[in-house]
Amino acid sequence: MKNKTALITGITGQDGSYLTELLLQKNYNVHGIVRRSSSTARERLDNLNLSEDLQDTLKNNLHYGDLADFGSLLKIINQVQPDEIYNLAAQSHVRVSFDVPEYTSDITGIGTLRLLEAIRKSEINSKFYQASSSELFGKAKDIPQNELTPFYPCSPYAVAKAYSHYMTVNYRESYDMFASTGILFNHESPRRGENFVTRKISLGVASIYLGLSEKITLGNLDSKRDWGFAGDYVEAMWLIMQQNKADDFVISTGKTHSVRDFIEQAFSCLDIKIEWQGSGIDEIAVNSKTGKTVIDINPKFFRPTEVDYLLGDYSKAQNILGWTPKTDFKELVNMMVKSDLKLLDK
Ligand code: NAP
Ligand code: GDD
Repeated sequence: MKNKTALITGITGQDGSYLTELLLQKNYNVHGIVRRSSSTARERLDNLNLSEDLQDTLKNNLHYGDLADFGSLLKIINQVQPDEIYNLAAQSHVRVSFDVPEYTSDITGIGTLRLLEAIRKSEINSKFYQASSSELFGKAKDIPQNELTPFYPCSPYAVAKAYSHYMTVNYRESYDMFASTGILFNHESPRRGENFVTRKISLGVASIYLGLSEKITLGNLDSKRDWGFAGDYVEAMWLIMQQNKADDFVISTGKTHSVRDFIEQAFSCLDIKIEWQGSGIDEIAVNSKTGKTVIDINPKFFRPTEVDYLLGDYSKAQNILGWTPKTDFKELVNMMVKSDLKLLDK
C-alpha cells in the first residue's frame, strides 16, 4: 500500500515537531509549510532524532508559504497532493493577541478560511484537521467543558479561533469535506515556547537552581489550566483524522491545576521548598531554606480579560477514538524541569 502524505502548517512549532515525529514513525511522507524569516534555524525540527536521510527528506519537503497568502497555500496543496492536512499554524499567544489583534485575526482566523478555500479550489480529496482550543470556552460556566459547552471567547486569539472552528464546521456541512477539529486543552513539553507560563517556570526554576538567575517574575498565579503533554495530544490529532466521519473532539486530561501548583511542583522536583508571603501584586515566594525571593509579580503579565478556570471532559475522545492521556501533571512538570536543567547545564 502507498504511504500516506501529510501536509502540516505550523510544522516548526511545538505540536508540529511532535506530529512530524509521529507521522514519520508511521511512514508518512511529511511536508510542511514554513514562513520566510531572517533566521533559517528551525530548532525543533533540527533536533528530531532522525536518520540523516530522513532529515534531508524532511528539509526538502519544507515549502515556503504563509497563512496570509492564499496563492502560496493553493500552490503547495496542488504540488504536494496531501491525503491529510493538519492546520497547526497560528499566532498562538493569548496575551500577545491583545497587542496585535488585527494580525491575530488575519492569521489565526482568516488564515484557516484561506486554507479551506485552497483545498476546495484544488479539488483534492484531503482530510482536514483544525487546531481548535479550550480558549474557546473562555468564561464558560459549565464544569467540566465538553463538545456541547457553549463558547465564550475572551481574547482576540480566542475569537479568531472561534471563527476558524465554525468555518471548519461550515465547510464540513456545506461541501461535504472531511473537516474535523480537536478542541485541545493546554499541552506542554520541553519544546514549549519560552513565553508560555509552564516553560517560563521550568526554565526559571532550572536557572535558579544552577545559580544563573535569582527569581521568576510572573502575572496571575491563580488561573487554573488542564495541562497535558503535547506528545500525547498529537496522537489524538492523528486518530481524529483516521475516523470515517469528520467530527469535533475535546482533548484534555480531566484534571486542573493552578499556576501556583505548577510553580510548587517545579521547585519540588529539585527538592526546593518554597513559602508564599504577602498578597495581591505584592505576593512573593521565598526559598524556605535561604529566605531569598524566587517568585514575584509584575502586572505587565496580566491580561485585559483572564480565563480563570479550564477543565476538560475527554470522554467522547475516549469512547470514539480510544484515546486517553498517558502523562500526568507531576510527570509533565518533572520532564520539563529536568530537560531545562540539562539544557542550561550545557
Ligand atoms: P506554536 O509553538 O506557537 O507554533 C505555531 C506555529 O505556527 C509555528 O510553526 C509558526 O511558525 C506558525 N505560524 C505562525 N504564523 C504563521 C503564518 N502567518 N503562516 C504560517 N505559519 C505560521 O504553537 P503550538 O503550541 O505548537 O500550537 C499549535 C496549534 O494548536 C496552534 O494553532 C495553537 O493556537 C493551537 N493550540 C495550542 C494549544 C497548546 O496548549 N499548545 C492548545 C490548543 C490549541 P514560526 O516558527 O515561523 O513562528
Ligand atoms: N504566558 C504567561 N506568562 N502566562 C502567565 C504568566 C506569564 O508570565 N503569569 C501568569 N500567567 C498565566 C496566564 O495569565 C494564564 O492564565 C496562564 O498563566 C496560562 O498562560 P499561557 O501559558 O500563556 O497559556 P494560555 O492558557 O493563555 O494559552 C495556551 O493554551 C491555549 C489552550 O487553552 C496557548 O497555547 C494557546 O495557543 C492555547 O489555545
